[in-house]
Amino acid sequence: MSILRIRCSPRGLDSESYRLSQQIIDRLTQTGPAGGLDIVEFDATTLTHADGDYATALAAPDEPAADVMDNGSLHASGGLIRMLDEASHIVLTTPMHNFTVPSALKAWLDHVVRVRHTFHITPQGKVGLLANRPVYVAISSGGTFSGEEARQPDFLTPYLRHVLATIGLKQVTFVAVEGTARGPEWLTLARARAEAALAGICYAATAQELAA
Ligand SMILES: Cc1cc2nc3c(=O)[nH]c(=O)nc-3n(C[C@H](O)[C@H](O)[C@H](O)COP(=O)(O)O)c2cc1C
Repeated sequence: MSILRIRCSPRGLDSESYRLSQQIIDRLTQTGPAGGLDIVEFDATTLTHADGDYATALAAPDEPAADVMDNGSLHASGGLIRMLDEASHIVLTTPMHNFTVPSALKAWLDHVVRVRHTFHITPQGKVGLLANRPVYVAISSGGTFSGEEARQPDFLTPYLRHVLATIGLKQVTFVAVEGTARGPEWLTLARARAEAALAGICYAATAQELAA
């Protein structure tokens, strides 16, 4: 059992989304339901785009030969899916880029949303193969995208909810620091709002676990 953190900001450990994800992890491990778990880290900004062998394999009716599987994106995908499988909790850290996920997170999704491995195609549509487990998404955005203060569309949270459900991950919680570009006073307020939301979320998660 471990917490898997996928880092998706080009600003790395200095990023606002990383800062928020650390608060989530601290709460989960110190007072929440994930006490004592190891943290496994993956920096999605190191991923390349899905390559040709991968695209060909996903479009084919059968799996490719073993030697093809051991290379490039197919090999990377296998490792990333194993990482996901082994985690009991998943924390995604992501800025909003052009109203949606940044390319690093999209690249990670392209590697883990994989037919025959993390979902099946049925006459009723795609059915996820991963065991459901909590996913926390720490978002940072320059402007605001939710509630009455929203000043832009949000293609990030509905997209992530849908694509994660496709592979079986349906217990997704979003926490956001919105409006990092709106000045230091706004940032302080946005951080406080995110922290308060997080406290409520972790309290509910712990209560749920104790009741189970
Ligand atoms: C390429 C790029 C596109 C961006 N697009 C948006 C956007 O559509 N909406 C928004 O609110 N902020 C946008 N931003 C601003 C970031 O979301 C914001 O700076 C955020 O706080 C960065 O988080 P991080 O520190 O975790 O990387 C964009 C930033 C970059 C670099």
